[in-house]
Amino acid sequence: MELTDEISVQHTTKSRLPEVDFNKLGFGTYVSDHMLICNYAQGQWQAPRIIPFGDITISPTTLALHYGQSVFEGLKAFKLDDGRINLFRIHKHYERMLRSLGRMCMPGVPEEVFVDGLRRLVEVDKDWIPTQAGSSLYIRPLMFASEAKFGVKISDEYCFIIFTGPVGPAFSQPLKVKVETNYTRAAKGGTGSAKCAGNYGGAFYPTQKAKEAGYDQVLWTDARENKYIEESGMMNAMFVIDGVLVTPPTSDSILAGVTRDSLLTLAADLGIPHEAKPVSVAELENAFRHNTITEAFGAGTAAIVAPIATIHINGIDHHLPTINDNAIMFQLKNKMEAIRKGQDEDKHGWNFLF
Ligand code: COI
Repeated sequence: MELTDEISVQHTTKSRLPEVDFNKLGFGTYVSDHMLICNYAQGQWQAPRIIPFGDITISPTTLALHYGQSVFEGLKAFKLDDGRINLFRIHKHYERMLRSLGRMCMPGVPEEVFVDGLRRLVEVDKDWIPTQAGSSLYIRPLMFASEAKFGVKISDEYCFIIFTGPVGPAFSQPLKVKVETNYTRAAKGGTGSAKCAGNYGGAFYPTQKAKEAGYDQVLWTDARENKYIEESGMMNAMFVIDGVLVTPPTSDSILAGVTRDSLLTLAADLGIPHEAKPVSVAELENAFRHNTITEAFGAGTAAIVAPIATIHINGIDHHLPTINDNAIMFQLKNKMEAIRKGQDEDKHGWNFLF
């Protein structure tokens, strides 16, 4: 018998759906009625359960709180015009979750729990999927070391949870970003390519400093020389220089973004010149000097495509030209949106429909 043959579902007795203002979703404001929970102990995954979303009780000695074995994912569900639901690129997100878990010495969550469990959860909360342009049901699978023992060790117990919530795009305004050369997010051989909690916690302080200086996000540079762009805040960074879409190649210090991958694939489909190559800070400065940089943006599941209006480099604010609807970033974004809403052909098999 499969783990997910019978996922027990305990329905909420009082839906919170009437409290949602679907015209003002924001990002991270609302959580849907139910969550999936699945525990791992004694080398075995237990049967997953769907229960009303709510608090969980953990011991202060829970290993994840001390030593940071905690990994998450972020993906999105869409409702098509014919009523079907699409879990966009679910397998790509599952593969990345496995890689992150491996890097953090955590056991792989079974595919049937991730995929079938997620499908069942989204079915239960399908009325939470928004249909307004640019909105979606954001899905947050997470897993943490749940063993209650404060000795420094790899946990023997884990808790896997999936919850969801309706969202709009994470950023509503073009961003001002600051090239960061004092602090680093990730180094060669570190955990930068894993979607682990500590990467985000470690980014807060430099990001807060950037915010105090009037910027929204940082543009991270490499840890060794601070010469090359890595990522922007919680997104991959992309630029259009000399008409070519460029983005740093993935590495062990850059997260392999699923949106990044989708946009690069679509650039190829649309005949847009593109290249994954190191982008140096000097190259950006030079491109501003010669007006050859026409677009800069962040790409991520939550952000989708987040236009960058200003890049601060070594004491100077460089402003990007005003963009119009025909900008490469919007061509790519619109194409991706059309595919995942079922309005364009899904030739890469990215949609998981039910
Ligand atoms: C995402 O883009 O989905 C992320 O996980 C980044 C952020 C919201 C933490």
